[in-house]
Amino acid sequence: MKYIISTFIIVLSMLMFHLTDALQTKECTVCHVSHSGGPVKKPLTELCVTCHKERIQEGEHVVDIIPKYQVPQNFPLTKDGKLTCITCHDQHSKEPMMLRLEPMTLCNSCHKK
Ligand code: HEC
Ligand code: HEC
Ligand code: HEC
Ligand code: HEC
Repeated sequence: MKYIISTFIIVLSMLMFHLTDALQTKECTVCHVSHSGGPVKKPLTELCVTCHKERIQEGEHVVDIIPKYQVPQNFPLTKDGKLTCITCHDQHSKEPMMLRLEPMTLCNSCHKK
């Protein structure tokens, strides 16, 4: 019985590992229609929020608004000028939090004191 349980746990953790591993190695079709990149499956915010619903709750940073002022060039906006999740997050980054800059610098880039 002990043996069965530990085998079960090992198999389960291997499955979990492969799941997270697929994302860590950025399985392209998680977001893209095809394996080679190209178009993404949904409009940007909608895409990210499919899996990160908590990130559009109250208290989170606003998205899908057009900044009233010029934001620095290294922060991508959509074609129609909207701020999205990938304005702050680099969608292909392997860094923790996938941020374009370290938090303090990030915030201060747009919010000057
Ligand atoms: C977490 C979601 C996500 C994953 C996983 C992902 N991408 Fe992307 N990718 C995006 C988004 C979002 C964009 C920007 C699309 C836009 O601006 O409309 C993008 C843009 C691109 C572009 C256009 C140039 C660029 O870098 O902006 C290429 C090429 C690309 N991805 C290839 C890939 C490949 C190849 C993989 C797998 C190794 C991959 N992507 C995995 C979300 C993802
Ligand atoms: C203005 C910049 C900014 C925007 C816009 C933004 N984020 Fe973030 N995000 C951050 C920062 C900074 C952190 C790290 C600190 C924290 O957890 O709040 C973070 C953390 C995260 C995390 C990691 C949470 C954890 O604890 O592991 C996820 C997932 C995430 N953001 C998803 C999103 C999604 C999805 C969107 C769009 C709906 C989004 N973010 C929009 C700045 C931003
Ligand atoms: C198919 C589901 C899925 C989609 C779509 C998706 N993510 Fe994630 N994302 C995950 C999972 C799973 C993790 C890893 C577990 C965790 O940290 O929550 C993750 C982790 C993250 C993290 C935290 C990384 C860390 O080091 O903690 C950020 C930031 C993030 N995603 C942003 C985005 C953004 C921005 C988009 C849209 C371009 C996006 N995600 C689209 C599932 C997804
Ligand atoms: C790419 C530019 C950009 C970055 C980076 C950025 N912000 Fe913002 N932020 C905005 C815009 C645009 C608004 C909408 C209100 C405005 O025009 O000031 C906003 C609004 C806010 C608000 C709400 C203020 C209000 O008047 O309702 C807070 C709080 C905030 N940001 C905090 C942060 C924090 C914390 C960070 C770093 C994690 C950050 N921002 C990074 C552009 C940015």
